[in-house]
Amino acid sequence: MILHIEGVLAAGQVAEFRERLAAAEWVDGRVTAGEQSARAKRNLQVPEDSPLARELGDTILGALGRHPQFISAALPQRVFPPLFNRYEAGMAFDTHVDNAIRFSGPVRFRTDVSCTLFLSDPADYDGGELVVDDAYGEHAIKLPAGHMALYPATSLHRVAPITRGARWASFFWAQSMVRSDEKRTLLHDLDGAIQRLSAKVGQGDPDVVALAGTYHNLLRQWAEV
Ligand code: NI
Repeated sequence: MILHIEGVLAAGQVAEFRERLAAAEWVDGRVTAGEQSARAKRNLQVPEDSPLARELGDTILGALGRHPQFISAALPQRVFPPLFNRYEAGMAFDTHVDNAIRFSGPVRFRTDVSCTLFLSDPADYDGGELVVDDAYGEHAIKLPAGHMALYPATSLHRVAPITRGARWASFFWAQSMVRSDEKRTLLHDLDGAIQRLSAKVGQGDPDVVALAGTYHNLLRQWAEV
């Protein structure tokens, strides 16, 4: 599933992030790329161990922990500390697939879900779409600042070349309790339908209770914790 998650950061938070990131040290983005993607990647990044990246990353993780849509879609087991990147005019990231396993210090993550949190106003740059491939073709994604795209880490994807301005973003991965995108999508769809039905007929309606039971029993079958 490819999902648009609104309002992860408020406008004031985005402005504060931008101001603090502007003063950060930026390095060649190939430092976090695997061998295959290093050839495809032309951007700048804040180093992974930067205290500023950790602090801002924790703000993002806190916001996501309270975001019902993210929890429902990602079913996160653990979330990789968010990283920050920037594409200036002429920069791009050609088609690649993200590394399956990543390290954060001694902790190993399997990347199931990829996230891009946009930190630039779309009017401030041309190009720079996140283009994700799935069975239905290519999806070009460019969201307002503070909004996030969530997509399966198994997807081929790219960042289109920037032709004007700059595109700033945070990017990171989640290891999900449910490895399969197909199963996560079913659970997310079922959860959404239960929430909408419950708003109409009440949480205590016996059919809502039965469907919620089915949701939890599917999760029990599929979750690895
Ligand atoms: Ni990628």
